[in-house]
Amino acid sequence: MTTETLNKTVLITGANKGIGFETARRMGKEGFTILVGARNRERGISAEANLIAEGFDAQFIELDVTSQTSIDTAANSIRETYGKLDVLINNVGVVLGNFEDIAVPSKTDSKLLRETFDYNFFAMFDVTKSMLPLIRESNEGRIVNISSELGSLTQHSDPSFEFFHHKILSYNSSKTAVNALTVHFAYELKDTPIKVNSADPGFTATDLNGFQGYRSVEQAATVVVQLATLTGDGPTGGFFNENGSVPW
Ligand SMILES: NC(=O)c1ccc[n+]([C@@H]2O[C@H](COP(=O)([O-])OP(=O)(O)OC[C@H]3O[C@@H](n4cnc5c(N)ncnc54)[C@H](OP(=O)(O)O)[C@@H]3O)[C@@H](O)[C@H]2O)c1
Repeated sequence: MTTETLNKTVLITGANKGIGFETARRMGKEGFTILVGARNRERGISAEANLIAEGFDAQFIELDVTSQTSIDTAANSIRETYGKLDVLINNVGVVLGNFEDIAVPSKTDSKLLRETFDYNFFAMFDVTKSMLPLIRESNEGRIVNISSELGSLTQHSDPSFEFFHHKILSYNSSKTAVNALTVHFAYELKDTPIKVNSADPGFTATDLNGFQGYRSVEQAATVVVQLATLTGDGPTGGFFNENGSVPW
């Protein structure tokens, strides 16, 4: 699944910790120049330093995905320095609110539902739209949208699904919407070399879930890197974990 990575850049949003940071390390191992997207300067610079200490080519890019000004500044800076972007990994995702409330659809606060969509869906749309002109400059552009099996309507309708009882409307539906982004952008870009796919990292021990996940960030990053480094004959418009397709 690997492509020729000489002089290739990858931008990872929310790369200062968790799955994003591990993905950054793995893309570094693949030979990419890593643009470490982070909203907090101190945390971003610290992640950049850790990646450089491991021998990778890394550069912190200040990027708050919920701010169009921040997205535009980041895109301009990437254009000035690199002239293109080969891979965009839309990794930022949040779970907002108190679990007891968000786990019950009728108890979900609509402000919180909107806010979750701001982070998980609208910000991903804004970043993708703004970075697309740079990705079009690449010979082998790849966009990986970090989704979740919790966004799968098919699995949520199956009582045997491991997370059937995790009906967190805000988070889950925002990831379903992420999958719609994938399908629609993949269609728009079908006659270009750009591939757009959704990744399901699985239930992973990170801050997002208070480290309750049973998978490691190393396991989680595997599918992300697979999709980021797809060869020209690879799929587009799909939803995958490291074992293959995930139902929509
Ligand atoms: N962990 C799981 O079990 C699991 C399962 C399926 C899917 N996922 C998905 O995997 C992705 C990564 O999650 P994770 O588990 O690694 O979570 P995490 O450890 O909480 O990391 C989230 C990252 O997003 C950043 N972030 C949040 N809001 C941001 C903003 N407005 N602008 C820029 N960065 C922002 C955070 O930065 P700060 O440090 O500044 O907060 C952090 O770097 C998410 O999309 C999540 O939904 C996770």
